[in-house]
Amino acid sequence: MAATVKHGINKLAVLGAGQMGLGIAFVAALRAKVPVLLHDRSPHQIEKGLALYDKLLAKDVAKAKISEADARGARERLSVVDSVRAFREHGADMVVEAVSENAGLKVGIFGELARELGADVILATNTSSISVTKIAAAAVPEGVAPASEEGQKSSGRVIGLHFFNPVPVMKLVEIIPGLQTSQTTLDRARAFAIACQKEVTVSKDVPGFVSNALLMPFINEAIMWLEKGVATREDIDTTLRLGMNHPMGPLQLADFIGLDTCLAIQQTLYQGTGDSKYRPSVLLERMVDAQWYGKKNGKGFYEYD
Ligand code: CAA
Repeated sequence: MAATVKHGINKLAVLGAGQMGLGIAFVAALRAKVPVLLHDRSPHQIEKGLALYDKLLAKDVAKAKISEADARGARERLSVVDSVRAFREHGADMVVEAVSENAGLKVGIFGELARELGADVILATNTSSISVTKIAAAAVPEGVAPASEEGQKSSGRVIGLHFFNPVPVMKLVEIIPGLQTSQTTLDRARAFAIACQKEVTVSKDVPGFVSNALLMPFINEAIMWLEKGVATREDIDTTLRLGMNHPMGPLQLADFIGLDTCLAIQQTLYQGTGDSKYRPSVLLERMVDAQWYGKKNGKGFYEYD
């Protein structure tokens, strides 16, 4: 039975120290109490991530949500490593990839992970819309065909583990098995997400899964309403916030997710389905052209310090 399955993760590796990767490292080290290896190719991102990690722990201590000893334990369980190869050297038995939402990048990374790590290491992607099946097909050792028995076994350890931002706060993990994902991988990944104190849902591997296939048309429609001048940004957001009790209005939420990420997800949805309801609005495209990415770089539908 799924409920009795142990995740058996003695060491987690997280690839990418941006807001998602850092959050995943945080809940794994603090809540699941699993040692975490963190890698990012950018030293600046690591520095920023570690500062945020300390800030989150200090805030939880100040609010008496955790003890000083809990925070110390979480700090001690996190270590930074300088390569994917080091995941193997330090004995990681699960990797969560949380790099930017780019299919080519993820495919390349999963090829490298498959080459570097043993066949029993679970390889999870935090993708929010890209085909998990496609990523899994890349997770085969060099010279092995994805459709061969060995290829299918290797791809069987890949799964989508979709966390939500801010990871320490949001209670959900959406799990997406690819066509090749084994039942053991699914059971262990689910047990791990539960150990991180998350609720779990499972979605088939369709573009955007359940979450973003429903959220992105909503956000896109709000952007088009702004574009058409139906209401101001404040009135659109306030209508949804106070009228429907959403914690944030859709434009503020788009800024919070990142406009580049919203556009990348919408393009995946549109290309993956051909359905015009997923076509990104011109305004969103232009804002990304302008490199206005939202809260992360100070300018989106709103301005940030
Ligand atoms: N990291 C960690 N914790 C954070 C945080 C962050 N970035 N931002 C806020 N918090 C914490 C605060 O510290 C506070 O914690 P305490 O309860 O311990 O005090 C708590 O969240 C509430 O924060 P605030 O009181 O400052 O503000 P708020 O009540 O407005 O909540 C929010 C902030 C949780 C972000 C809330 O506005 C919210 O839920 N917004 C919607 C977020 C959402 O929909 N996320 C999903 C995006 S989609 C996605 O991630 C997936 C995808 O594929 C695109």
